[in-house]
Amino acid sequence: MAGDLRHRRAGGADAGEEEGDGGAEAAAKAKAGPPSGGEGAEAAGPGRKEALGWLEWSRGWMGVVGEFFFQRIAASHLANPLELPPLDGVSIIVTGATSGIGLEIARQLAQAGAHLVMAVRRPKVARELIQKWQNEQTEVSMPLNIEVMELDLISLDSVARFADTWNARMAPLHVLINNAGIFTIGEPQCFTKDGYEEHMQVNHLAPALLAMLLLPSLIRGSPSRIINVNSVMHTIGFVDAEDMNLTSGKHKYRSWLGYSNSKLAQVKFSSIFHKRIPAEAGVHTVCASPGIVHTNVARDLPKILVAGYRLIPYFIFDPQEGSRSTLFAASDPQVPEYCETLKSEDWPVCACINYDCNPMNASEEAHNLETSQLVWEKTLEMIGLPSDALEKLIEGEPVQCRYGQQKAE
Ligand SMILES: NC(=O)c1ccc[n+]([C@@H]2O[C@H](COP(=O)([O-])OP(=O)(O)OC[C@H]3O[C@@H](n4cnc5c(N)ncnc54)[C@H](OP(=O)(O)O)[C@@H]3O)[C@@H](O)[C@H]2O)c1
Repeated sequence: MAGDLRHRRAGGADAGEEEGDGGAEAAAKAKAGPPSGGEGAEAAGPGRKEALGWLEWSRGWMGVVGEFFFQRIAASHLANPLELPPLDGVSIIVTGATSGIGLEIARQLAQAGAHLVMAVRRPKVARELIQKWQNEQTEVSMPLNIEVMELDLISLDSVARFADTWNARMAPLHVLINNAGIFTIGEPQCFTKDGYEEHMQVNHLAPALLAMLLLPSLIRGSPSRIINVNSVMHTIGFVDAEDMNLTSGKHKYRSWLGYSNSKLAQVKFSSIFHKRIPAEAGVHTVCASPGIVHTNVARDLPKILVAGYRLIPYFIFDPQEGSRSTLFAASDPQVPEYCETLKSEDWPVCACINYDCNPMNASEEAHNLETSQLVWEKTLEMIGLPSDALEKLIEGEPVQCRYGQQKAE
């Protein structure tokens, strides 16, 4: 059985117990700025924090290690594969559907009857997968309803063009699953042609642009959901809105930091989106953590480490196990209600679903509304949208995007 969100207090799954007794208190605390009192790495100016305190950082790493050792036990109540409701008539876009977790998510959603759009950078591979899945179907089952659309998150023009093509259909979109991501472990810092640090663009900026530009279609499909495949690694990230590319020299670039920061930026952006979007729009946003999963994500590790990674299957989920939290977030009927509860309680973070399909509390830093607001503003600037883009799109007004040379509705 998957998680029951109805009887859960907002955000009170684990670490959040320390952070206050309710959403309003946490929000007030977040507005007051980061905690002080010897945790280290405090501010250059009043209320400005420049890095995670050592306690937050240690807690974050303990969470990562704890997830590795205990995820299988914590998720032992879940069926594998997760049982999905019938999804006939539900339109779902999945990015990065040609490998790992995204491939599993896509296959299961299509087999549950969804109209699935595989948004991928390698359309040929996607078409081969469809053929394979189709061949696996029994004679009595319906043909799969899948299409392939090209999307390369390394180019914001590609993202804008993708959204433009989809919006032109004037069709409803019920679920957007921002799954595609990279973790170029141990590699030197790289930048996209748009000028952004690669992890930040592929894991945060491009999915944020996609969600914003698809908003007209998501509103048409409301109640609808944006599911971001996030990571426990967000707990060791720290986002300085003035240094999203990690180029100022204040924070030395490391691939794990680029990855963690991009995942934290995504939680922060999603949290402001969740706060600002009116309940009547019916678009819910969720960050789902898949657990530690055996996929191609470790392809950049040295060969010896890749071999070691393969030798630890007991602890590591396979992609089917890793797909459960995202599939739960995308399809369980309790999820919209849970998001609405968090909104009405003014909880400072969007809904987060853990690998065991239970609510998860995001890191302490994710609760800092002040810095989340800064990340929101900076992200909109970086993805070429005006600061009032959300409000305009909700009103059905045209919004000019710097990328793709197109107008969102
Ligand atoms: N594996 C884990 O332990 C773990 C843990 C926490 C979170 N996650 C998150 O889970 C998500 C899926 O990762 P995974 O583990 O399944 O890794 P994966 O096997 O490497 O799959 C990543 C997918 O993203 C696609 N992708 C990468 N760059 C892209 C781009 N520029 N444009 C479009 N698509 C792109 C890849 O396309 P190709 O097939 O063409 O390469 C692939 O389909 C990521 O967001 C990752 O951060 C993974």
